[in-house]
Amino acid sequence: MLTVALIIFAWLEPLHAFSSTEITSSSPAAGTGIRIRRLEADTNFLFPTNAKRLTEFLMDVTYGECRPFSSAWAQRAVIDATARSELYSRLAYYQKELILDENGAVSSGSGAIFIAEDEENNCELVGFVDIGASLWDSKQRMFQLPMNDDNLKRRASIELVPYVSNLVVDTRVRRRGIGKRLMEACDAEVTGWRTKCATNSISLEVTLTNQVALDFYRAMGYVIAKGSSSTPGTEMKREGDSFRMEDVQRCLMQKELMQSSSP
Ligand SMILES: CC(C)(COP(=O)(O)OP(=O)(O)OC[C@H]1O[C@@H](n2cnc3c(N)ncnc32)[C@H](O)[C@@H]1OP(=O)(O)O)[C@@H](O)C(=O)NCCC(=O)NCCS
Repeated sequence: MLTVALIIFAWLEPLHAFSSTEITSSSPAAGTGIRIRRLEADTNFLFPTNAKRLTEFLMDVTYGECRPFSSAWAQRAVIDATARSELYSRLAYYQKELILDENGAVSSGSGAIFIAEDEENNCELVGFVDIGASLWDSKQRMFQLPMNDDNLKRRASIELVPYVSNLVVDTRVRRRGIGKRLMEACDAEVTGWRTKCATNSISLEVTLTNQVALDFYRAMGYVIAKGSSSTPGTEMKREGDSFRMEDVQRCLMQKELMQSSSP
């Protein structure tokens, strides 16, 4: 699992503009002027514009900005570089697996990062989410994209399931339905994978102390997976001028997608 903000996290100015295509939802709804889009992969590993922007957003929203030349600022340089590299790899993997039909609509894929942009404010990034067809190892209780290790796929305890991670919305625009719309984009994406995944239910993990996220996911129709116990993990915390890892317990939540009546 990526859970970029929660694991060991850490480049330069962009070569090309921050780009994203394929509007998945353009209705103004509650978040007026907010557009949800699939984010394209970066084309240059040395100048990963999109991955860089996601990383900075995620880190700033989650941990706050750091005073230049402080120890937190130095730690963040390393954390951001790791996160950028991970996000770059994920975007590249998703793009490689993406198949469009003759109308340019998604006909098959293995994942996506959807972003929310404020059209009334220079398309400022205000949220994003990651959905990937991930390998679920029920023994190790771990989700992982099948992009690096083909051997994983051969183990009996492992199956491919839709997995949501890295959902974050800017604190300034929360409770305006943006998180909901990002999750709806994930639902729509997964609908195209049904033949690929072992299940049509979407999985995610939440830290048990993250009451807001638990409430949000319940409101989105997710329930704690039957018979699942909590899983130990670690989470990055900021304490004043430094970051540290903290032990946490996570629970597995799932939502069964409605079967489409159309063929
Ligand atoms: C969780 C998060 C993404 C929700 O985004 P959001 O855009 O504020 O959520 P929405 O406005 O779409 O909320 C949809 C529903 O979820 C529930 N909900 C959302 N935030 C809630 C809160 N703080 N308390 C209780 N319920 C909440 C409500 O039922 C809400 O509907 P309502 O506003 O009509 O009552 C956002 O709070 C966030 O970025 N949190 C920090 C990152 C995080 O914890 N991510 C999850 C990691 S597992």
